[in-house]
Amino acid sequence: MAQTSVMDKLVSLCKRRGFVFQSSEIYGGLGSVWDYGPLGVELKRNIKDRWWHAMVRAREDIEGLDAAILMHPKVWEASGHVAGFTDPLVDCKTCKARFRADQIGDAACPQKPSKHPGEHSTCALTEPRMFNLMFKTVMGPVEESGSVVYLRPETAQGIYVNYLNVLQSSRQKIPFGIAQIGKAFRNEITPGNFIFRTREFEQMEMQFFVKPGEDAEWFERWRVLRMAWHEGLGLTPEKLRWHQHAESELAHYARAAYDIEYEFPFGWNEIEGVHNRGDFDLTNHQMASGKKLEYFDQAANARYLPNVVETSAGADRIALTVLVDAFREEQVEGDTRTVLGFLPSVAPIKAAVLPLVNKDAMPETATALFNDLRKRFACFYDDGGAIGRRYRRMDEVGTPYCITVDGQTATDQTVTVRHRDSMAQDRVSIDQVAAYLGERLQ
Ligand code: GAP
Repeated sequence: MAQTSVMDKLVSLCKRRGFVFQSSEIYGGLGSVWDYGPLGVELKRNIKDRWWHAMVRAREDIEGLDAAILMHPKVWEASGHVAGFTDPLVDCKTCKARFRADQIGDAACPQKPSKHPGEHSTCALTEPRMFNLMFKTVMGPVEESGSVVYLRPETAQGIYVNYLNVLQSSRQKIPFGIAQIGKAFRNEITPGNFIFRTREFEQMEMQFFVKPGEDAEWFERWRVLRMAWHEGLGLTPEKLRWHQHAESELAHYARAAYDIEYEFPFGWNEIEGVHNRGDFDLTNHQMASGKKLEYFDQAANARYLPNVVETSAGADRIALTVLVDAFREEQVEGDTRTVLGFLPSVAPIKAAVLPLVNKDAMPETATALFNDLRKRFACFYDDGGAIGRRYRRMDEVGTPYCITVDGQTATDQTVTVRHRDSMAQDRVSIDQVAAYLGERLQ
């Protein structure tokens, strides 16, 4: 399969089957903003639930948080985002396109896509100028300079400004972490590759507060845990790797940073960052707010500003990773079968219930089974068309099991359970179907 066509096919499948739609499509769309349809919202929710479970529910040393998107404007001065969250921007006066100066070598000239911007005879590129990626808006009814607020470009700052609140209310002790999932916004110069780089996206971030001097050790521990989480999502291990940031790549806050990268059809790219942020953020917030953020360590009888190890993943980017990794086409009996081979726990629909034909009490039996199963699992009922076509429709959206009520059901109270990947079919007693699925959908 040609590399580019994988993305084209996936984007088309996502729209056709209700995973992802372009935002405001009836108005021509809004650049690099996407909406999740009925199946997409389930997929992304399942990914976020897995993350929340691994990071918060399954651990005693991490608390959850849901901080607001709008924050005091001084937060973004203290965090370094007002001064430093910038990309170098270059305009072409001829075609009016904009490029990141540091990524010109990867960009295509809109006038002649086989060339890079600046290489065509009519290109007229400006000198690079720094462009702040934060979206600004105004708070309150009066538009004046004092009322400017920003849409957060990362969720992390909501955690830093609440670190004392969480520490005191939860009675945690260092080392401990705070996790949150929420929207972030960046006015990216060159967004693209579907939901890979967008202007509105969701982050799943965790800040782990540790004693100074123990940061390097925790950094290594979190690297191991985060890679294991991605592998646990069922992603192809050979398509995951680490990229260590060189000194010149490090974000303004980082002492050390590694990205977890995935090999997309458009190349290796970051899906999560693990950062050693030292005491950069707490020091700056302490200074800018005038509020003491030190921790008193009773065991060591010492006061200090904790260091922070951050794990920062994009929910949309991981949804894309899961989609890309799951997508496959197979030849079956002279036909092309499209499959999204999701890990069952992230599949939007866990089981489809299908009456073989719409007569002989099969719909009634199937409806009763469907109503029973949907109490526990995300299920789908489909009685339209030939059974083979219905199986294919479920394969295409990644449904791991199809349960068919057929002519034999009335005589021996059994149904067939068809497996998405092997297409093998088991005969299961109708009153055992829920337990059968329960064992396999952990
Ligand atoms: N708090 C640190 C931070 O935000 P980052 O490397 O800028 O670090 C972390 O972002 C993760 O957020 C990325 O690995 C990616 O998964 C996601 N992300 C960042 N920008 C994004 C964008 N424009 N669209 C989609 N996801 C994005």
